[in-house]
Amino acid sequence: MMPKRVLIAHTDVAPDGDPSMADVLDEVCCVEKGLEELSVPFETIPVAAGRAWEALEPEDDDIIFNLLEAPPGRPLLQIAAAGVLELLGVPYTGSRLASLVLTTDKLSTRALLASEGIAVAPGGRFDPEDPRLLDRVSAPWILKAGFEDASVGLDGEPVVRTREAAVARGRQLIERFPGQPIVLEHYLPGREFNVGVVEVDGDPVILPVAEMTFIDYPDDMPRIVGWEAKWIEGHFSYDQTERAFTDEEKEPELVATIREITRRCWAITGASGYARVDLRLDEAGVPCVLEVNANPCISEGSGLMVAAVRVGFTVGSVIASVLQAAQRAHQASDHQLAVQSA
Ligand SMILES: Nc1ncnc2c1ncn2[C@@H]1O[C@H](COP(=O)(O)OP(=O)(O)O)[C@@H](O)[C@H]1O
Ligand SMILES: [Mg+2]
Repeated sequence: MMPKRVLIAHTDVAPDGDPSMADVLDEVCCVEKGLEELSVPFETIPVAAGRAWEALEPEDDDIIFNLLEAPPGRPLLQIAAAGVLELLGVPYTGSRLASLVLTTDKLSTRALLASEGIAVAPGGRFDPEDPRLLDRVSAPWILKAGFEDASVGLDGEPVVRTREAAVARGRQLIERFPGQPIVLEHYLPGREFNVGVVEVDGDPVILPVAEMTFIDYPDDMPRIVGWEAKWIEGHFSYDQTERAFTDEEKEPELVATIREITRRCWAITGASGYARVDLRLDEAGVPCVLEVNANPCISEGSGLMVAAVRVGFTVGSVIASVLQAAQRAHQASDHQLAVQSA
């Protein structure tokens, strides 16, 4: 059943500000387009600093479309904002709080997936003052801030080949992202894939496998979708990184394996509504999970939406599925409350 009204709650950003933040405005446009297609009334509400309790006045039967994101360096704000929606007791789209807490933390996600037998990039928590991890994980290495997304912190040269460079990069990240653990992983040289998931009638629909291709990269340049590749128009890596879709008929086993891993990641991380899993092949061609994105980008040009449209969804039908999942998750939490108070 379609809701009477949707409140699109989004992070209040300047269109010409940080590109990784301004991107939320494209997501707003996409959700609005979907709701127009569905003829569902909506209101779009910018929320400053995650203070959803001040900005939102939900009425009975409203659903919040949660586009509350976190600025670079403040990753916990996204989780806190979802916490506010949870406290307000309203249905909200995307993943529940627990899944957001888990997937925002790259180390916890890696550990949980590995414990379930899913291959992840060799690596772990890196302490530049006690760099023993470097003895266990072979070079080259890539270093990331443990709670960031959108390739924040993956600017400049995040891939290093020497111990000295790893320690120096680790120290820089600690200074830039205080309070966050540092993740160091073996740099996986193989192909990179992103797979979107949309929840339809309670079940995950695994979307076509997309590959990020690196066109005419010099041999010595790491093939990564770092900060510049994602956000700096005109940069070599931005211009030379292209999304392609993997031909299932040509590579049936690879596609089937990646889809199955994605399905398991969805279940293990407890995502809901929609998600995207990022993977890379290792030297032996084994797909390893880099991360699970609960509430990934949902603009019209996003990997998730483009993949969905390829298999017959429309923007409206994706949004309808996400709204239905929100109602379902809300009813499940009501049910829990009822059980607890019984
Ligand atoms: N272990 C790795 N090996 C090779 N490339 C990696 C590795 N980890 C991350 N990358 C590159 O960095 C990009 C961003 O890393 P990811 O873990 O997905 O974080 P984010 O949340 O910032 O997207 C990936 O899309 C990939 O290109
Ligand atoms: Mg990613």
